Amino acid sequence: MAAVDRGWTVIGVDNFEAKVAQINSGKSPVEDISDTELQEALKNGAYKASIDFSEVSRASVITICVPTPLDEKREPDLSLLQSAAREIAPFISNETLVVSESTSYPGTLRDIIIPTVDSLKPKDTINVYFASAPERVNPGDPVWNQKNTPRLVGAINEESKNKALAFYESICDAAVSVSSPEVAEAAKLLENTFRLVNIALINEFTQLCSANSINVHEVIDAASSKPYGYMPFRPGVGVGGHCIPVDPLYLTWWARQSGQRAMFVESADVINHGMPKYVAQRTLMLVDSMVPNPRVLILGVAYKPGVGDVRETPVSDLYHHLKDLGAIVAWHDPYVKTWEDTEPVGLDWNCDIAILATNQPGMDAEQLIAKGVQILDCTNSLRNKTGVISL
Ligand SMILES: NC(=O)c1ccc[n+]([C@@H]2O[C@H](COP(=O)([O-])OP(=O)(O)OC[C@H]3O[C@@H](n4cnc5c(N)ncnc54)[C@H](O)[C@@H]3O)[C@@H](O)[C@H]2O)c1
Repeated sequence: MAAVDRGWTVIGVDNFEAKVAQINSGKSPVEDISDTELQEALKNGAYKASIDFSEVSRASVITICVPTPLDEKREPDLSLLQSAAREIAPFISNETLVVSESTSYPGTLRDIIIPTVDSLKPKDTINVYFASAPERVNPGDPVWNQKNTPRLVGAINEESKNKALAFYESICDAAVSVSSPEVAEAAKLLENTFRLVNIALINEFTQLCSANSINVHEVIDAASSKPYGYMPFRPGVGVGGHCIPVDPLYLTWWARQSGQRAMFVESADVINHGMPKYVAQRTLMLVDSMVPNPRVLILGVAYKPGVGDVRETPVSDLYHHLKDLGAIVAWHDPYVKTWEDTEPVGLDWNCDIAILATNQPGMDAEQLIAKGVQILDCTNSLRNKTGVISL
């Protein structure tokens, strides 16, 4: 849509037929894109979705932005990226720019995408330009979007760099040129790993504060009064979504390939993974020990506020830990229709305690406070309210 806005004609090629049909019917699958905006672009021919990879032959710029998840060993799974490269390659026209926007470890463009494209592209396609410009998007963010977030661009040669900069300068306020695709790829991993380790630090710190009856948020606010050298992060149930918990493991894997260890990052991952269990235990300690099977209501299950995305949400682990500890658990989230094969309950569900896990807009936790329900607030959004205990 950012490209459409700046006058480009865009075709979204996707192998998920139902999603393509949904988009072409004018229903946006992305929270930050309204149906009206999508319908307008479909109506004036500026955008369409397709399952047909031969549409690629019409493109002067191809951006690859398929998921880059982890496999069952929690190692990089580039199978979707590889298959996307294989599928587009036979249809790439001469003089086309191919950009990898997917997050991955340094070397992915040069060692995986380029050899695949080069070996399968049409014989009369002589010049193909390649760059890496990792996607930087923060779903649900009212301030930062594709247009006003600077975009890193690292290309394999001068011509590729000029083409990629021209494209991203046309759709973003600023494109930042770096010396190679590897720098752009590594920068993306650094950005998300920076968040992971800082969240882990504060998640560990909050446990120390809690054990010593100190409110961690008061400490964070106090430290934040220092005008330099400190940046506040808040504790929570853990980290979720398909970026922060995933990308740092691309970094740890990449380190191991050269016989090194990213130990700091590995520790951060362990600490964040321990949070759901800590929150479950802390919750049940707040309930009267005479109640054999406490009824626990989880408020907000998406991985962050303002979205219905439950991928990698740490609330899933919390849910299972609570059940393993004997609790009867229900959940409420205005953005999520089904989760963990269960349906949400209303805020009037009778509970012994509630956990505010994700502070979804429009979710009226005050209703529970008014009823005298105890709430463990993992989001720092119900400060100084009666019956609310801060994580
Ligand atoms: N969404 C974000 O917040 C965000 C932010 C920064 C970076 N990223 C990165 O961007 C990349 C894409 O993430 P996303 O959240 O947009 O993914 P997504 O899960 O929304 O998937 C994008 C689309 O790719 C399609 N797809 C999968 N394999 C395909 C293939 N072989 N050919 C064609 N289409 C295919 C899927 O059907 C899906 O519709 C990832 O590397 C991610 O780490 C995402």
